[in-house]
Amino acid sequence: MYLESRFSISITVLTAVVVAFGLILLRVIHNVFASPIPPSVPGPWLARLTNKWILLVDLSGKRARTVHALHKKHGPVVRLAPNELSFADIDAVKPIYGPATTCIKSPVYDTFGRLGIFQMRGHDEHHQRRRRMAHVFAPGSLQQMEPLIHSVIDQVMAILARKAGKPVDALHWCRMTALDVAGEVLLGRSFGAFDGDEEAPVFIQHLDNMFLVWALSGNAPLLHRALSLLPGKKLQRFLKSGDYFYQYGADAVDEYLALHGRVPNRRSLLTKFILGDPDTGTAPLSDTEIGDELANMAFAATDTTGNTMTYALYRLCCHPAWQQKLRDEVLASGARDAGFAFQSLQALPVLNGVVMETLRFHPSIPSALPRVTAARETVIAGLVLPQDTLVSMQSYTTQRDPAHFPDPEQWRPSRWLTRDGGGIDAGTAEMREMLLGFGKGSRACLGQHMATMQIKILLARVVARFRVRLASDATHDEMDMTDHFTLIPKGRRCGLVFTEL
Ligand code: HEM
Repeated sequence: MYLESRFSISITVLTAVVVAFGLILLRVIHNVFASPIPPSVPGPWLARLTNKWILLVDLSGKRARTVHALHKKHGPVVRLAPNELSFADIDAVKPIYGPATTCIKSPVYDTFGRLGIFQMRGHDEHHQRRRRMAHVFAPGSLQQMEPLIHSVIDQVMAILARKAGKPVDALHWCRMTALDVAGEVLLGRSFGAFDGDEEAPVFIQHLDNMFLVWALSGNAPLLHRALSLLPGKKLQRFLKSGDYFYQYGADAVDEYLALHGRVPNRRSLLTKFILGDPDTGTAPLSDTEIGDELANMAFAATDTTGNTMTYALYRLCCHPAWQQKLRDEVLASGARDAGFAFQSLQALPVLNGVVMETLRFHPSIPSALPRVTAARETVIAGLVLPQDTLVSMQSYTTQRDPAHFPDPEQWRPSRWLTRDGGGIDAGTAEMREMLLGFGKGSRACLGQHMATMQIKILLARVVARFRVRLASDATHDEMDMTDHFTLIPKGRRCGLVFTEL
């Protein structure tokens, strides 16, 4: 009896294994023969069989460099999965990202938290939301943001002065700066980023965890659902990081309305969301939409801007001659007497070159901005692709194209300076086309001017007051890159020493 039951269990297990193998084999055969991508397109052989290969590369945090190596080996078009291509060809930029593109954001954006402008996939829905939000980031609004940005940077400067001469984690303080600027500017409240000594506020912990939870729910929804049924306060709290995160946006809206009402006298950014824009006749967003957008933007602003500031400081330490050049320029410009007002910094060529070159060399979103072809046929760089093909380019590769950026592996701010070094050079049309660091076209970054202003003000204020150097050679290893959509320095810290001049 016992033997009989063991035998029948073995048969069941064997049948299940054979069925599973059969299904996988059928899937692989289907992937190979039904692929919309011409067989002549090169790429790793595993990419012909399954999309799991690129998924694993993605999860390992090595996507940008792996895809970059594939382009170096195979050329400007590479297959990443049976249904997915990566392009590194200048002629692919417009069809994928240009203003008249028929491609839309890929379904992966559905896994990036709650619906907001960043996640919206349809052209019409996105166009409407963008019209309703763009005025919040218009030049007039930037002026309103500036005092708030300075007040946050005052706090980080005080901390750096207090810790002068000792190693500090510049990544932490740059992230905290970006976080509190986002809080002050967008939510009208501080996240308390400078309250703890190198202790990140809870919001940042939710933000970090949220990425992991999104990756889990996006790639393994069944496992995510199973975990959410298990007991354990810590686990459930972890799985709910997204809810906690979005609660900040909702609380900010409630708090604001309780304090100022729906038709307040003050003209803050939140007011603009709440009232809409009478000048362009754009209707206001609902309170829930505003809360979700605010939280989404705090997420879009923090790591991107924080990382860029950190990498700029790190590069200035690796290239002390550029650090000195920047200091000389800032001190000679009279910007200090002008309280480092953005207007006094905006046109400084070396400062501009340092920021542009950091955005080129260390793009904060280094890997694919994934899109899907939505027309019946789309021609990209000479390839005719059917509907529903996944296509992308990555800034890590386009911004290292030696045809447009000579010696691409050199961090060289002089690319963005006129020949005599005395003026700003915006680069050739081709260089500008290949810059994808802030995205492109109608989906380009809404906060890019706010980010650039913050980065320039921070760098100018730091070099005018401190000499900065690496804490040790270990900093190079810490600043090596991993990427999970946004770039994350491998060591999750950046040891630098700031010494008062
Ligand atoms: C150095 C800093 C930043 C970098 C490198 C950066 C980069 C990007 C990139 C590459 C995209 C396009 C994503 C895609 O196509 O999938 C994007 C979109 C976006 N960014 Fe940024 N970003 C930065 C700072 C900010 C800031 C400070 C804010 C807001 C306060 C912001 C808000 C947004 C929004 C709302 C979108 C979506 C725009 C749309 O789809 O219409 N970003 N950003």
